[in-house]
Amino acid sequence: MKALQTLLDSWANSQNQLKERGLFRNKARLCDFRQSFSLNFALNDYLNMRTDVRLAQRSYDCAVQDGSGFGASRAVVDPTQSLSELESACAQWLGLSACHFVTSGFLANIALMDGLSSRSDENVPTMHIFMDHLAHASLHTALKLSGISCSYFPHNQFEQLHRKLQASKASVKIIVVESLHSMEGDFPNPQSLLSVCEKNDALLIVDETHTLGIYGPQGAGWLACHQQLKPYVLAITAGCGKAMGCSGAFIGYFHSIFAERMYQKSKPLLFSTAPSPGVIGAVHESLQIISSLEGENKRENLWNIANYTNKKLIEFSKKHLCHIPFQYSQDASPIIPLVLGNNFDAINLAEYLQNKGIFVRAIRTPSVPRQTARLRFILSTNHSKQDINIVFEELESYFQTLKLNKNEGKDISCLA
Ligand SMILES: Cc1ncc(COP(=O)(O)O)c(C=O)c1O
Repeated sequence: MKALQTLLDSWANSQNQLKERGLFRNKARLCDFRQSFSLNFALNDYLNMRTDVRLAQRSYDCAVQDGSGFGASRAVVDPTQSLSELESACAQWLGLSACHFVTSGFLANIALMDGLSSRSDENVPTMHIFMDHLAHASLHTALKLSGISCSYFPHNQFEQLHRKLQASKASVKIIVVESLHSMEGDFPNPQSLLSVCEKNDALLIVDETHTLGIYGPQGAGWLACHQQLKPYVLAITAGCGKAMGCSGAFIGYFHSIFAERMYQKSKPLLFSTAPSPGVIGAVHESLQIISSLEGENKRENLWNIANYTNKKLIEFSKKHLCHIPFQYSQDASPIIPLVLGNNFDAINLAEYLQNKGIFVRAIRTPSVPRQTARLRFILSTNHSKQDINIVFEELESYFQTLKLNKNEGKDISCLA
């Protein structure tokens, strides 16, 4: 048992180190913030679908009809009618040739990269993947597991990407980006991305997890607004745990031969139990609501509040940037990062706001690069202008106190 004790001690030690560096994650339970917070800015439930009873009802109906679990992977049992119907509806919604619905966005990215990789007995062209270095952890993990040769480019810096593409000898070059970035709250420039694809004959994979449902006509995502990119897009992934308010994810294809290859080759499709009927039902209901006029109204509210918040943020920064070091994204977006840099600064401000009934999380490495600890405010259709005013009033009084302390030469170590 000596080995076990050594292992447990080393884990305890590294957890203590996390605490010392302000990187230990305290658990936040959903029931806690329902009781203690009047305003919640921590969930990606952009359209407030998560608690819509119509989803719960459809989920129940599907579970009663098809069972609580799928019972096998889709390679063993043909997709149920409800799964086929959901996938057809999604393909039509997003303008895809075909799609697969899987149990999570993390798994969707792993499945996709696994399907792209080649077996040693296949005669396929050399492939190289160019990934935004701030891409979601699931994309990094997926790429690593796939064994595909890869390199990284700085976040949304397409000049640098272009140079890397020019230097590459691979026959097939694939660029991987997120549409709305989950931590930066910004978008890639579509024209620059198009130009890079055109000049280098490069293909695209886009993770639309944060734009599915909130962006584009009928909420069909970022690519729906940038049709000129579509000829270059090989596939998309889109998680249903955000605006859709459920769980699971779509892998979308623009060429049916790729969908077929995935079905024949991708290990998560072959060897993992397909999503449960309850989830399939909830996602289908959500899709129908989101793509309807009701969804259009929800999106309008969301973008109104995003634009309002962005304007407030610009005013706020003009007032405080000279004495408080923070950065923010220039894009109007429902994801608003307030980058403070230091872990403890982010934790202190998050705690201050939490004590005022505003639930917002301090995001630190490894979710974001070192020295870019931040508060991430996530907006939803439920937020009103009044809610946003409350947040800015609280930020104002927090930063004023820091400024006074600074002027009086008091300890401002939390901004060190
Ligand atoms: C861009 C992006 N891709 C994939 C995922 C993973 O999705 P899921 O939570 O469904 O596993 C997330 C989740 O946060 C994400 O932000």
